[in-house]
Amino acid sequence: MSANGLHPVQKAWMHINVPQCGYCQPGQMMQASAFLKITKKPTDADIDAAMSGNICRCGTYQRVRAAIKSAAEELA
Ligand code: FES
Repeated sequence: MSANGLHPVQKAWMHINVPQCGYCQPGQMMQASAFLKITKKPTDADIDAAMSGNICRCGTYQRVRAAIKSAAEELA
């Protein structure tokens, strides 16, 4: 996304401390980035639908949702 870690999704992930084990996180972040290119003001339902293919065995879904909203605000 960004070599310096300053992409809005990367910053949101770090700020909210989303990862637990980290296994799923590259896919979560790439999906979130693609989703935010086509959805500027995502609702919870939008996020849940877009991210439904990304399984997190650690259950970080609430933090993923919060990070996506944070990144969307920065991108606006
Ligand atoms: S953070 Fe562990 S599987 Fe998602």
